[in-house]
Amino acid sequence: MLAKTSKLILKKKHKSKIVCLTAYSKNIAEEIDSYTDLILVGDSLGSVLYNFDTTRKVNLTMMIEHSKSVRKGVKKSLMIVDMPFNTYKNKSQALKNCKKVMKETKCDGIKLEGGKKIIDIVKHLVKFKIPVMGHIGIMPQSVRGKFKYKGKTNTEKNKLLKDSKSLEEAGVFAIVLECIERKLSKEITDSINIPTIGIGSSNFCDGQIMVTDDLLGLTDTKIKFVKKYADLKGSVKNAVKKFKLDVKKGSYPSIKYSY
Ligand code: KIV
Repeated sequence: MLAKTSKLILKKKHKSKIVCLTAYSKNIAEEIDSYTDLILVGDSLGSVLYNFDTTRKVNLTMMIEHSKSVRKGVKKSLMIVDMPFNTYKNKSQALKNCKKVMKETKCDGIKLEGGKKIIDIVKHLVKFKIPVMGHIGIMPQSVRGKFKYKGKTNTEKNKLLKDSKSLEEAGVFAIVLECIERKLSKEITDSINIPTIGIGSSNFCDGQIMVTDDLLGLTDTKIKFVKKYADLKGSVKNAVKKFKLDVKKGSYPSIKYSY
């Protein structure tokens, strides 16, 4: 049985595009919540906030603490938490850790990276009523070196088609398709009855997700699929420059800002 909230996302397939974004803290979650269907506390926080060279360095405590903060800002969207590397190696470890995350963060579900390899674990979690979101294509927890797109060869293509079908059969409520070739992302989307959420995988997907810090221009990423919708780095610089000038001149704090 899927939780009510995950069912709502499922229903959107073929009806309206699903809007998803990441958040790592309350302030951002609060601002994006009215516009999103799903907010992911992604383990991308490892590279975005902690400057790690891999998401493998993110641990459960970090995910839980950031998620607790995000929870305070999410009122309407579905809140999903990424399970970090090495926290779902087998059925019992996965269930124990997912239950802990669900209980401590009050999230609506979790996300795991992997296809057929993790099917028994997914089935086990679903059996114990944990709403699970899948993630295939580029899987940052397994990637070493440069990120490339997936679906170039027939072998890769068949594997991804099988992975998505297996995940659907195992009971995930949606699947993130990361950097999957355009036509293949359409083929996957058309071949399953659960929503696909693309990141670098074409507008054929049922929804899209982006790292909010990238979208806002808070990172220096040059990844092809990232479209910057704002220049917050520039805004921060300008604001701080003005503050510095005011402090140096002694014009801040003026009487208006004093007791
Ligand atoms: O960790 C993350 O933020 C993600 C998404 C971008 C899909 O997995």
